[in-house]
Amino acid sequence: MKNILIATQKPFAPDAIKKIQEVVKNAGYGLQLLEKYSDKSELLDAVSAVDAMIVRSDKIDKEVLDAAKNLKIVVRAGAGYDNIDCDAATQNRVVVMNTPGQNSNAVAELALGMMIFMARGCFNGKAGTELKGKKLGIHAYGNIGRIVATLAKSFGMEVFAFDPFIPAGQIEKDGVKVCTSEAELYSTCQYISLHIPATEKTKKSINYDLLSKMPENGVLVNTARKEVICEESLLKILEEKPGFKYVSDIAPSCKEEIERRFAGQYFFTPNKMGAQTAEANINAGIAAAEQIAAFFEKGDETFKVN
Ligand code: 3PG
Repeated sequence: MKNILIATQKPFAPDAIKKIQEVVKNAGYGLQLLEKYSDKSELLDAVSAVDAMIVRSDKIDKEVLDAAKNLKIVVRAGAGYDNIDCDAATQNRVVVMNTPGQNSNAVAELALGMMIFMARGCFNGKAGTELKGKKLGIHAYGNIGRIVATLAKSFGMEVFAFDPFIPAGQIEKDGVKVCTSEAELYSTCQYISLHIPATEKTKKSINYDLLSKMPENGVLVNTARKEVICEESLLKILEEKPGFKYVSDIAPSCKEEIERRFAGQYFFTPNKMGAQTAEANINAGIAAAEQIAAFFEKGDETFKVN
């Protein structure tokens, strides 16, 4: 019998666990649950005899992969797989998959919520502003970016996007204006919503050059990864432009300095919560379990990323 481990420091909603259990049971596999673990040794113990793993942002490095002697597949129930050492997985002949699109709506809704929260002065009771009529730049037009565009248009925002990997016609079909460079996007829009993955190329790529192109009252919304921001540049911009705001679904490393020096210019969620909805957990969790079953039963590698 195959053994599947769900290893999530940040647990799925209980309903998602029930539904994953059903898929795993129907496939005739055993299920092990490791939630809210605080020490890596717990993860190292748990992986020792499993054939497959479902994880979220849990760090799956070489040590974990080496400890998982029977592991054949690890599925990141979500989009970004920068938490998994894909090279080490490939060396160990472990297939890595993600579940693209399954939690996108939750993240997109949070991005809009964050924009409203900042436009209304973090609900401080003073007069704020509206999103209607403002320009929004979507940096990367993937699954989340597309939903953000739809939601933002329904708020009456003028939506722009930059994505070198998506044909312009496809973006324009959605009623979104295409920018042909990052510089154009950042100099055109008051709001920027980031949807780029964290890769060697994108880390620290949101730098002074780009941020300085945003207007005095610019709002940078980050539901992507903290690593894509050049934090020295961010600090400089917050200082130079007292009307500039940074809202992020994960605190930057320089959180304390921002809190000390830039009151009213920031908001950070306490724990990455873009995909923290029951719906997103159910969608991504079921997809992960089904992908594992399809992989074992039919050799299906559709969502393989390594
Ligand atoms: C993702 O990449 O899918 C999101 O960042 C969600 O991450 P999480 O599963 O850790 O909430």
